[in-house]
Amino acid sequence: MRSTPLKLSVILIAVFTLFISAGLAVAYGLMHGALKSDIDLRADQVIEDLRAIPEPVERIERAREIVSASDPRALLLRLELGGETLASVGALPDGVIDSEATGLPEPVADSYLVRHADLAPGALTVAVGRDSMAELHETFIAILGFALLPALMLTSAIGIVVVRRTAARVEAIRSTLHRLSQGSLDARVGSPHPDTDLGDISRDVDRMAEAQEAATGALRQIGADIAHDLKTPIQRVAVRLERLADTELPDAARALLDQAQEETEQIIATFQSLLQIAQLEGGQGRDGFAPVDIGALVADMAEIYETSAEDAGARLTCMVAGPLPVVGDRNLLSRLIANLLENALRHAPGTDIRLSLTGRVLTVSDGGPGIPEGQREVVLRRLARLEASRSTPGSGLGLAMVKAIADLHGARLTLGDAAPGLMVTVDFPA
Ligand SMILES: Nc1ncnc2c1ncn2[C@@H]1O[C@H](COP(=O)(O)OP(=O)(O)OP(=O)(O)O)[C@@H](O)[C@H]1O
Ligand SMILES: [Mg+2]
Repeated sequence: MRSTPLKLSVILIAVFTLFISAGLAVAYGLMHGALKSDIDLRADQVIEDLRAIPEPVERIERAREIVSASDPRALLLRLELGGETLASVGALPDGVIDSEATGLPEPVADSYLVRHADLAPGALTVAVGRDSMAELHETFIAILGFALLPALMLTSAIGIVVVRRTAARVEAIRSTLHRLSQGSLDARVGSPHPDTDLGDISRDVDRMAEAQEAATGALRQIGADIAHDLKTPIQRVAVRLERLADTELPDAARALLDQAQEETEQIIATFQSLLQIAQLEGGQGRDGFAPVDIGALVADMAEIYETSAEDAGARLTCMVAGPLPVVGDRNLLSRLIANLLENALRHAPGTDIRLSLTGRVLTVSDGGPGIPEGQREVVLRRLARLEASRSTPGSGLGLAMVKAIADLHGARLTLGDAAPGLMVTVDFPA
């Protein structure tokens, strides 16, 4: 019921039904009233006619005349004087019609309006047929059945078709916006865009997505270009510093040189990572794809990191349920696991680190401070680091690299809560 077109259709059909029903009811009431007063008038006329004749014999004569002039379905009479029936045109015991006496098909009290009048002397009972009112009733039932019901069914059917169509379009727009907000910049509502307001909105959403994708691409390209242009001069600086290290230097200068060499190495590493992430995002790493068993890879990585974990005072446990053959790049996948393990060692020092593979899901969790929910999208961006990690070394590219590698393999990366600590899962596609 949250669909606007559905709500509108229901309201429109309800209003339509209400107005038509009210119109019909008013028309019926008016016509019914007019017929009723006609019948009343006819009864009054007969009563007044007979009352005006005081002589009993003449009155009976007149009554016979009146009745013979009209159809028994339209008029019946009974005249009484002193408990004796003087004239009975059709027996009329208190409004009930005797079929044998009247020759009517069946005794239907409802078919007549019955009036009793005191003529002093004598009493008169008049019954005026109400066939016209029954006909009116039937006519209105027919209008309801043959016009209103089909009209209602037709409008409801049209409403359902329209609602279905718009609901599908609205859903397409909604899911596209959702995917765009999740970072899938290639999401589109898709053409053809119908010539309606929703079609216009879909076209605008697609244009916006197009522009956003282009802008993001351009930004990435600028980042990669800067990294590329600066890498060579920095490498040259590194080579010069190396040469400088081979010369005789006072202790203070050597200490400064060591620091400068460390910094340049860090800068070169950062540029290299930036360039590699840009390449991975461009889909370049797929060339090196070959069958890899992630089960064996996870076990290998656990072995490699066992000593560094011990040195850092952490405990690394590894659990592999079985082999998981995928098609991918072995080096990139080890880089992914290494980045996650290094993060656990660096940002959650001295805690239990668990590396596991169950089914198609690789999990790395620790017992450290974790990442607050609102920051879990942020840390996946390039160069993003949490305030708490300002004092630890690193450039904030590790998780961006993990994300790029996971995306390249079509795997879904999720950061979660290990309560306490961070739990990272990588879900490989079947
Ligand atoms: N296991 C973890 N526990 C708590 N915070 C973490 C963890 N892993 C990452 N973070 C937070 O996410 C940020 C981004 O991580 P990322 O790996 O991208 O960069 P980094 O580790 O700081 O640097 P590097 O480029 O060397 O990996 C970190 O700076 C840290 O604040
Ligand atoms: Mg890291």
